[in-house]
Amino acid sequence: KQYAIGIDIGGTKTLVACIDAEGRIADKIEFPTNPQTGVEDVLQRLQEAVAQLIAQMQQPSTLKGIGIATAGVIDSKRKLILYASNLGWTNVDVGTVLEQRFNVPVMLGNDANLAAVAEYVWGAEKQVSDLIYITVSTGIGAGIISGDQLVKGASDSAGEFGHITMDLKGKPCSCGNVGCLETYCSGTAIARIANERLAPLNNGDAWSSKAVLDAAHAGDQSACDIIDEAAFYLGNGLVSLIHLFNPSQLIFGGGVMSTENRLYEQVQHVVAERCLPGMYKEVLFRRTALGKEIGVLGAAGQFFM
Ligand code: BGC
Ligand code: NA
Ligand code: ZN
Repeated sequence: KQYAIGIDIGGTKTLVACIDAEGRIADKIEFPTNPQTGVEDVLQRLQEAVAQLIAQMQQPSTLKGIGIATAGVIDSKRKLILYASNLGWTNVDVGTVLEQRFNVPVMLGNDANLAAVAEYVWGAEKQVSDLIYITVSTGIGAGIISGDQLVKGASDSAGEFGHITMDLKGKPCSCGNVGCLETYCSGTAIARIANERLAPLNNGDAWSSKAVLDAAHAGDQSACDIIDEAAFYLGNGLVSLIHLFNPSQLIFGGGVMSTENRLYEQVQHVVAERCLPGMYKEVLFRRTALGKEIGVLGAAGQFFM
């Protein structure tokens, strides 16, 4: 039996999993990670987790490789994480360390890019030739499959959808630019806008994006306005993606899109209104069925594509 190990390095936790050729998680280990966690510490725990998973794997089986997903920018050739946007790390040499220790190929990729790979290989509908995966969470990212191939770009980082410019004189983004899409409609942005405009929640807590979506669902007008504005930006961003890549499916994931909600509904209206008519008819909207483990699935899925 063949399997691969998928690693998803996240802003709150890191998941390491053994995945077989059918996309089943045979075994997994997770540990907390956050911007305060030292890089050396994480590299150490990663190696321990991988070694443990390999030791527990039923024999005979072949490890095809180790895949690593992370938000931000990677250098796929030198196997470095150039910038882990949710952890603040720069220039982390994780690929070579794992390759030398375990003597198998290691492949790195952007979280959203690899989620698109997971959808292509193991999604509810398999091998959709032209799909775009969009994650809306702390940030916004996309992974583009075009003509049965992941659109990688020169260094595997194509698909930085959250940082396309929506307003040339807009709000500052964590990336250093201004007016990026994710400053208007990520989970972080929705919570920030609610906290700027609305009184704190009844129990005194600050607004989260989930609280805004729940309030909108319950019919609260100011919450609906915040969501509709976010949908206007996100929808217009999606129009550009559709015009550029002519996908047959847009697949949504990430905390903010994991439920049927007003944002998910409203973006579809915006796209219907603004997309070139002939192109809109082609696009199916759906939400991922792969759940929170889509990151490790995609990281391992690279070895089965
Ligand atoms: C990062 C992307 C990432 C996305 C979703 C953005 O802020 O720039 O690399 O894919 O968030 O995590
Ligand atoms: Na991406
Ligand atoms: Zn930006």
